[in-house]
Amino acid sequence: MAKAPAKKPAATSGAAATPAKSATRTSTASAAAGSAAPSVQPVLNQQFNAPTPLQKYGTVSQRLPIGLDEKTRQQSVNNLNQLLADTITLRDLYKKHHWQVVGPTFYQLHLLYDKHYEEQSALVDTIAERIQILGGVAVAMAHDVAELTSIPRPPRDREEAPIQVGRLLEAHQIILKNAHKFAKEADESGDDGTNDLAVSDVMRLNELQVWFVSEHVVDTPLARTE
Ligand SMILES: [Fe+2]
Repeated sequence: MAKAPAKKPAATSGAAATPAKSATRTSTASAAAGSAAPSVQPVLNQQFNAPTPLQKYGTVSQRLPIGLDEKTRQQSVNNLNQLLADTITLRDLYKKHHWQVVGPTFYQLHLLYDKHYEEQSALVDTIAERIQILGGVAVAMAHDVAELTSIPRPPRDREEAPIQVGRLLEAHQIILKNAHKFAKEADESGDDGTNDLAVSDVMRLNELQVWFVSEHVVDTPLARTE
């Protein structure tokens, strides 16, 4: 049996259709000559043949002239990646608790947790971009964050509100202790920008959130089950 012509790969996806359509405007001559409009296909899995990454995680490059030597930038990048991994973890802990919270304070905590989640999200971006400014590589993916963070892993299960509050306060304290240590190191090394970030962004926000969350710690249960 005669087979269908083998050439003409099925370039029917939306990604291919758009450039082909626009190409007809600029290739009137070739269309008039009877040749097909060029089709563009994405090349997937290029990473398997790539020679080396642009920059290895854990290194610093000299791209930006910001007046800080390599040793100083390397120390700050290492410290900031620790703060970043912990901040990403705390951010996600807030969202977990936002979804799973129960009890008479449900509505307040549900809203408060989401507000803190948004604020921690903004902080994540600030820390990550500082790492890039210093010539480093910001940790990003959940797998790597899980390996790096010093905040204990919570269970997948739903927990009581007081346990949620306790977990959040513990996480904040881990970050705050590190922020104090890293701010001092940045001050001593002359990295004023990182010192300012650790104090003005990380410390201020975490201290404020600790206050709001701590006010939900009570000695007396609001309701009894017996
Ligand atoms: Fe929500």
